[in-house]
Amino acid sequence: MVYKIMEYNEEKCREMYLKKVIKVSAIFMFCVYLMGCAGSFGYRSEMPVEEAASERITVGFSQLGAESDWRSENTESMKGTFTEENGYTLIFEDGQQKQANQIRAIRMFIQQEVDYIVLAPVMETGWETVLQEAKDAGIPVIIVDRKVDVSDDGLFTCWIGSDFELEGKKAAEWLNQYAKAKGIDPADIHVVNIQGTKGSSPQIGRTKGLADAARVNGWDLLAEVPGDFTRAKGKEVMESLLKQYKNINVVYCENDNEAFGAIEAIEASGKKVGSDITGGEIMVISFDGVNREAIQYTLEGKITCIAECNPLHGPRVRAMIEALEAGEIPEKFSYVDEEIFSADETVGVLKIGETSYRVKILTKENIEEDKKEE
Ligand code: AHR
Repeated sequence: MVYKIMEYNEEKCREMYLKKVIKVSAIFMFCVYLMGCAGSFGYRSEMPVEEAASERITVGFSQLGAESDWRSENTESMKGTFTEENGYTLIFEDGQQKQANQIRAIRMFIQQEVDYIVLAPVMETGWETVLQEAKDAGIPVIIVDRKVDVSDDGLFTCWIGSDFELEGKKAAEWLNQYAKAKGIDPADIHVVNIQGTKGSSPQIGRTKGLADAARVNGWDLLAEVPGDFTRAKGKEVMESLLKQYKNINVVYCENDNEAFGAIEAIEASGKKVGSDITGGEIMVISFDGVNREAIQYTLEGKITCIAECNPLHGPRVRAMIEALEAGEIPEKFSYVDEEIFSADETVGVLKIGETSYRVKILTKENIEEDKKEE
């Protein structure tokens, strides 16, 4: 299997190299022709606009939607990277959360003969046919953020994104350490999970992280309900969970937008969000940590812990394309490093397997410091 992947990539590199040689030779011939013309008119011409455009690398990017602040940051990162100044022509398509739209976009990119296809897939399954079509057309496909579940990894060139299961494990381990430090009986942890989009990598990984920890530690996992990674759905789901279960004391939201909605619902019901889970408060645990509101809520103690999910993939995908252009073969799977944040100092370090993770304690001061460094 690994050999097959290498074979595919090397073949692709040779193909791309050939394409480049043809492109560069054509441009060179055209320049020689133009220089001749310029000479006969007695002046030297600048390279025509169309020609500069033909030298750019065309990237077709199928973004899955605009459901969250994380997604907006991710779109910005891609658009800000694949600019004309950087030598790219970006064709951006918003899938609006529908796999069918994304498949249509990929087929359009194939017809347009783009140089690279970048796909942020809404869910993991259902990509075999269209990825085979891209492969048959000789277009390298880079998968970003979420993963695709295909029987042959040779259907895509490489992937970059987060280890979503590790994020889930970190958040759950934080809760475990917190409960131990406070002497809370595991059976007194009554947790609900507001999941992300069903069948997407972050939902699968984060749900597993919590479900495994609940089983191992003996927590009372009351419900797992999809909240589609949106504020509105997070609120709606929380309202109905509060009616159904009177003893909820932890809400595990699979992103910050769901957490904002859940907090609204909790406060509207007359309950308080916070970390005193044996004293009547409901603890909110979340993922992402990309926007000010989430950080502000963490400082205020409304969100107790956030496992970071980093959306700034534009430069990372660009580095992969540049490696491919140089005839190199990027790693098949690249995971980004991520942190875990809390304003509560109870847990300082988490141990998952053999690895230790320091909890970044958020204070007004260190947030200001971070801003200055940016
Ligand atoms: O795939 C990344 C996830 O998708 C982010 O955690 C979430 O906010 C987004 O919608």
